[in-house]
Amino acid sequence: MLKKKSLAVIAATVAISTVAQFGVAQAAVRPTLAQKLQLQYLVEEEKLARDVYTYLAENVTSAKFANIARSEQTHMDQIAAVLKSYNFYNPTTVRAAGVFRDKSLQALYNELIARGEVGILEAYQVGVDIENLDIKDLQEMQKEKMPADMADAVARLLAGSKNHLAAFTR
Ligand SMILES: [Fe+2]
Repeated sequence: MLKKKSLAVIAATVAISTVAQFGVAQAAVRPTLAQKLQLQYLVEEEKLARDVYTYLAENVTSAKFANIARSEQTHMDQIAAVLKSYNFYNPTTVRAAGVFRDKSLQALYNELIARGEVGILEAYQVGVDIENLDIKDLQEMQKEKMPADMADAVARLLAGSKNHLAAFTR
């Protein structure tokens, strides 16, 4: 009888501590409002890269642009998955290539394709500028503590951008 009772107490204690841990974990993983906005900006920034490179692949022709555009699509998909996991709106799902919700990214897209279509050297410089911008923004985000899935995605994007920058400069 005593044994049974102690087992019940142990089971209840385990159940309570599991609930407590779960509660703490839940509270810790949610992005802040600022991070939600960062994620929504980031998915459009990756779209900017994808759309500019797709445009340059078609208009200036280089296998580099086609390959890197595909990589940018996987970056968009990774941020889209993070947005979805928190039920956050993804501004890229309803917008065609070359169309952005963020006005500064729209202006930048227009400027970059105009500069890039001049010739192959200008196009590569556009690639360098995009990757340097991405690296700066991603490193800025890393200064704040993020939920684990967001931190993983940001780290993968940063590694990708460094690879792309190297590809455009060799
Ligand atoms: Fe990139």
